[in-house]
Amino acid sequence: MLNDQRIATYLRGLAEGEDEPLRAARARSEEADIPAVPAESGAVLRFLARATHARTVVEIGSGGGYSGLWFLGGMDPKGILTTIEIDSSHQALAQQAFAEAGVTSRVRSLLGPALQMLPKLADAAYDIVFVDALKSEYPEYLEHAKRLLRPGGVLIADNVLWGGRVADPLVDDEDTEGLRRFNDGVTEDPDLAGLILPIGDGILVAVFQPSS
Ligand SMILES: C[S@@+](CC[C@H](N)C(=O)[O-])C[C@H]1O[C@@H](n2cnc3c(N)ncnc32)[C@H](O)[C@@H]1O
Repeated sequence: MLNDQRIATYLRGLAEGEDEPLRAARARSEEADIPAVPAESGAVLRFLARATHARTVVEIGSGGGYSGLWFLGGMDPKGILTTIEIDSSHQALAQQAFAEAGVTSRVRSLLGPALQMLPKLADAAYDIVFVDALKSEYPEYLEHAKRLLRPGGVLIADNVLWGGRVADPLVDDEDTEGLRRFNDGVTEDPDLAGLILPIGDGILVAVFQPSS
């Protein structure tokens, strides 16, 4: 029922539109073939940042800066987004998006493979960790997220339904397997209380509540 196209159109009609920096960042991402989150997922990111009064957010996979702008729109005005990107041309687009929105001073943009950059970030210092880079590496990002999140912090991951492929036993490529292991890892972890929102390509959200 929720996947009904009429409902999707109705919900989109109620949603607040993109401002000009968001629209431009989405257009540039499309042009560069970067799969940005859909606007309805961006609204979830902004909502979660606002609801948690987030001051410190880590984003794994900057792309063209589209999701980063949604986060910054919901974060505390003094909050800092730390965003990691492996591709310098994508990083340049993201930096352009942040400059156009006048938020450059609130962004720490790191260039390099996520698994090399994440160990440089401080333990238990982040309100939100958002996972949106290499799908096969999601299980490793999960381990880093647990180290980075403060108690009560929120893990968010995009594409966890992967166009339905995670639910198809005939699909076993490394991205799909990585996403399955990630979803299972969150579900089975007693320190994480999570669920999957069937919005966009599936958004996993989980609160980090360490037992010790
Ligand atoms: C799905 S796109 C991110 C889209 C962005 N979050 C948005 O919604 O606007 C994934 C990004 O992750 C980057 N990426 C892929 N592998 C990576 C890695 N190992 N480390 C860091 N970034 C990576 C890609 O270059 C790409 O820009």
